[in-house]
Amino acid sequence: MHDFLARLPKVELHLHIEGSLTPALMFELAAEQGIALPYATLEEVEAAYDFADLPAFLALYYQGMGVLNDESHFYRLAQDYFRRASADGVKHLELFFDPQAHLSRGVSLATQFAGLERACREAVKEFDITSALVPSFLRCHSAESARELFDALIPFESRFVGVGLDSAEIGNPPEKFTEVFQLAGERGWHRVAHAGEEGPAAYIRTALEVLGVERIDHGVRCLEDPALVAELAERRIPLTVCPLSNVALKVVERMDDHPLPKLIEAGLNITLNSDDPAYFGGGMLDNFIAVQQALDLSEAQWITLCRNAIDAAFPQRAEGLGMS
Ligand code: HPA
Ligand code: ZN
Repeated sequence: MHDFLARLPKVELHLHIEGSLTPALMFELAAEQGIALPYATLEEVEAAYDFADLPAFLALYYQGMGVLNDESHFYRLAQDYFRRASADGVKHLELFFDPQAHLSRGVSLATQFAGLERACREAVKEFDITSALVPSFLRCHSAESARELFDALIPFESRFVGVGLDSAEIGNPPEKFTEVFQLAGERGWHRVAHAGEEGPAAYIRTALEVLGVERIDHGVRCLEDPALVAELAERRIPLTVCPLSNVALKVVERMDDHPLPKLIEAGLNITLNSDDPAYFGGGMLDNFIAVQQALDLSEAQWITLCRNAIDAAFPQRAEGLGMS
């Protein structure tokens, strides 16, 4: 089964590129810039990556990305992930990044885009991976800050495929961002949002109804609302589920308890993804293997999960993956 899982052509739709920052690259970039890290060794980093919940993870995630300060840092970050993704059989990647978290350190949008795009361009030739960028609004920041980012993104709109919504969910409901998502829709940008990870099922509903999103990131808590499950299934709304992330952030206690089989049984349009692979214990193939060990899916179910991701990718980028 390992070979079968390794060979499956994979589309990854829920990956925060800052969450792919390995401790090794973090140390390297910090040393080059004379930045002091709160860790002396790689073992200390690993020990620190034991999270009580989403906010506890986010604190270290924002701290870690402080080593990303010029074009080459963003380039090396993404290139490093493309290399690992390629070894995992990833063929197409839609990658989130958090512009506000870098703008607040004085790193311009032009710098962020330039570094990430250089890696994306090279990945086509070097790693046979197509990709697209998805800048995301930080829901822990104000609606005004999101509007400022929206305006700043307009000159770059040919360089990304859509916008997302991430960071601390509870207390920051989707409707806080109604304005920017409506404006994004008017400009023809694709829209996705994290919802129903730590937040309630009601956030999934408002992300769909108020923000007009086409995919839900995570969405596992939809199971608490049967009418919502029926609607998600009927509309074939993709859920980008991240199993190792859910275990690492205690959304579920153990992989054996993961609701993936229930989500599949309910007829939902499920895709599997790694979220923040450097923080949560592994990339796409590690997620597939951990799921298989705990939940024992059939080959047909795996093929469906992979096909779902191909179909859920934003169309202009995901052609020719050889699974038709
Ligand atoms: N949830 C919310 N925001 C995030 C995550 C996540 O898992 N990773 C990076 N930003
Ligand atoms: Zn995420």
